[in-house]
Amino acid sequence: MDELPRLPFDNPSVLGIAPEMLALQREGPITRVQTAGEDAWLVTRYDEVRTLLADRRLGLSNPHPEQSAKSAARRFMVALMFGDDHDTEAARHARMRTLLVPRFSTRRMRLMKTRIEQHVDELLDQMAAGTPPIDLHRALSFPLPTMVICDLLGVPLADRERFGQWARGTFDQSDNQHSANTFQQVVDYITELVARKRIEPGDDLLSELIAHKDGALSDAEIAHLGNAVLLFGYETTIVRIDLGTLLLLRNPAQRALLAEKPELAPAAVEEILRLGVGGKGSNAIIPRYAHSDITVGETKIRTGDAVMLAIGAANYDGRAFPDGDLFDLARHKPKSHLAFGHGVRHCIGRTLARIELTAVFERLFRRLPDLRLAVPEESLRWQEHRITGGFDEIPVTF
Ligand code: HEM
Repeated sequence: MDELPRLPFDNPSVLGIAPEMLALQREGPITRVQTAGEDAWLVTRYDEVRTLLADRRLGLSNPHPEQSAKSAARRFMVALMFGDDHDTEAARHARMRTLLVPRFSTRRMRLMKTRIEQHVDELLDQMAAGTPPIDLHRALSFPLPTMVICDLLGVPLADRERFGQWARGTFDQSDNQHSANTFQQVVDYITELVARKRIEPGDDLLSELIAHKDGALSDAEIAHLGNAVLLFGYETTIVRIDLGTLLLLRNPAQRALLAEKPELAPAAVEEILRLGVGGKGSNAIIPRYAHSDITVGETKIRTGDAVMLAIGAANYDGRAFPDGDLFDLARHKPKSHLAFGHGVRHCIGRTLARIELTAVFERLFRRLPDLRLAVPEESLRWQEHRITGGFDEIPVTF
């Protein structure tokens, strides 16, 4: 029998979808692949990925965890999302959404928007005052989302350097010990923060959880939710600021249009989210397990099978987005991309992430009109070993 294709697929480019992934997408919506953990179904076309994300017969939890060896990083991520126990996933996850979603209210988002725009202006002023080459990652992409998480959780800005490396450490799949040690630091930090906020509450997410139903939630439950918000809430956005900058640098006409018409920033952000896939694209795959038998076209997925939903490939699918690989600010009523997932686990922080990215891309190319890479694009290194992927530096000049 022929060997199954093996994830992750090599990609000669630092951006975009691996050629083998696109070839499989051309052949059909779903195919059998090998992964580091186990054989799985890989779903690559937009319609099928979207439909399966909304299908309650798929879950994050593995009905047979003993059959799959996962990195510590993956186990922490799954546990943070209450997907670590097949019997309790549905109930515990629903409770997580009930508690977290209202914390991202329109009122809070509106208040945060003004602060975020001020942060971006300050960061760009500092950048412009520096002497290039400057590392855009360090000067802009990293500081902004970490500042925003400080505002959201009510922690001093000075703590950013401390927690700023924790998402990378926790989600480092190459070193289980490093991942476990880092995650412990997160747990200790948030546990202490919750204890402090019980005594001195503020206008922040943790204080609201403490006050919920007159203090009905335990410290441990609040800390679990706080850990998730901290660890999912900044690195994801850092990576998209870097990717968005690179995508616009690759597309000078679109970048000029955006600089001329900053009101196009929301459209630019949607294209950035849709096309922003780096390296081998491992961070653009949502893993699930079948909790019942499911049929996709001719294919029967059996209970317990692993299913990889390739949201990155789906977002490039020409069936859903004509000329799918083109960055196009003028797409007419495009379908909603899947960069934030879809269905019951649709990203809770998506409005906040959009506000941050819009504030950046409304301003970046107006404030620094000559912005360009200070190194060849091929020399940038995507950090494949982290679940979140990302670059460590983006040297630029202007
Ligand atoms: C551009 C930045 C971001 C991207 C691309 C992103 C992407 C995603 C995706 C794809 C999922 C679904 C995972 C799945 O279905 O298994 C998700 C879930 C989640 N995201 Fe985001 N995210 C971003 C920013 C944020 C921010 C800023 C926060 C919070 C401050 C956040 C909090 C969460 C949480 C708590 C979940 C879990 C939802 C659940 O399991 O029901 N994310 N995110």
